[in-house]
Amino acid sequence: MSEATMTNGTETTTPAAGPVFAVKNLWKVFGPRAGRIPDDTSLHGLSPAELRERTGCTAAVRDVSFEVNKGEVFVVMGLSGSGKSTLVRCLTRLIEPTSGTIAIDGEDVLAMDKARLRELRRHRASMVFQHFGLLPHRSVLDNVAYGLEIQGVGKAERRAKALEVVEKVGLEGLEQRKPGQLSGGQQQRVGLARALAVDPEVLLFDEPFSALDPLIRRDMQEEVVRLHREEGRTMVFITHDLSEALKLGDRIALMRDGRVVQCGTPEEIVGSPADDYVRDFVRDVARADVMSVRSAMRPATGDDESRGAALGPDAKVSEAIEAVARSGFPVRVMDGKRCLGVVDHAGLLAVVAGTAAPAPTPPAPAAPTPTVPGQGEVVG
Ligand SMILES: Nc1ncnc2c1ncn2[C@@H]1O[C@H](COP(=O)(O)OP(=O)(O)O)[C@@H](O)[C@H]1O
Ligand SMILES: [Mg+2]
Repeated sequence: MSEATMTNGTETTTPAAGPVFAVKNLWKVFGPRAGRIPDDTSLHGLSPAELRERTGCTAAVRDVSFEVNKGEVFVVMGLSGSGKSTLVRCLTRLIEPTSGTIAIDGEDVLAMDKARLRELRRHRASMVFQHFGLLPHRSVLDNVAYGLEIQGVGKAERRAKALEVVEKVGLEGLEQRKPGQLSGGQQQRVGLARALAVDPEVLLFDEPFSALDPLIRRDMQEEVVRLHREEGRTMVFITHDLSEALKLGDRIALMRDGRVVQCGTPEEIVGSPADDYVRDFVRDVARADVMSVRSAMRPATGDDESRGAALGPDAKVSEAIEAVARSGFPVRVMDGKRCLGVVDHAGLLAVVAGTAAPAPTPPAPAAPTPTVPGQGEVVG
């Protein structure tokens, strides 16, 4: 995973150094005269049921702002119906937003004409769907090459590229099978390979693994982690599954009723939930696996710096628990040769008990860190 970064969503950016996606005040309202809803602030406090009652409309996405940075895995998480699919479809205008702005590499997506949009969807941002969307009568190889075919890439080049990505996702030997002759996990690998074949700048995933068995699902999550480690490609990943979000996300935007209620690193979401809803959502998370030793440190005193195991600041608390148990001494948190502090029994227990404050996010290269440590961008 790349270094997680925070954005405040308000600074202006140049295309070269800026975020991949920049979304501001985005609304998608379904229903009669949908366009009046974003402007009518008297309606904004209504619950979804009240809004529907009063106007006949559903605000699937409500005043959402966030940025996706280059190379990060940005997860959008929320319960079914919270607006995740609508949001991700708005990014490439598979659904037309009601209001707000969307930019990709600084370019206004809402101003794109048909040809430019086609280019966006085919080359720059490819989508991996939950139900694979494979062509049943084509072989694995031809399914993978499909995106290149509609781009007009020649047969030999298509084939070479398709073979390469088929291997990349672990499907070698199955090139000539039809989708019906594959397991669910294998079919999803074909879907992933097809999206990868066009070498997009961003991969968009809409709950791609929800229909898979738990073990295969875990395989596929590891596949995504591995691919991301190898390629560093920017990903927007939609899921309703908290453990999946925590495993994959550099940052997570948590949605509820169309709004983003909190946006931050897994550690920030788990360590300082923005409200009772988020707190309840993350209540059962194994905190020691999410929180870093940074959040459990105290300053070194006495003999602390001369004994005990050493860990990097991003090591998880669970690793420190093991190390403290083994050596009996506090763990030294080392940034290269510099000792940042130590983690002792009390610090570890505070994290596990949920009484420790999370560590501030390390400074981001392209964007300012928020002034409130541990509190992610809270939108809407
Ligand atoms: N085409 C549509 N017409 C009317 N309402 C819709 C439409 N698509 C989605 N919705 C509503 O918008 C809300 C968000 O849906 P969706 O984005 O599919 O949520 P999620 O992907 O998080 O399950 C839901 O209340 C859903 O019923
Ligand atoms: Mg959905």
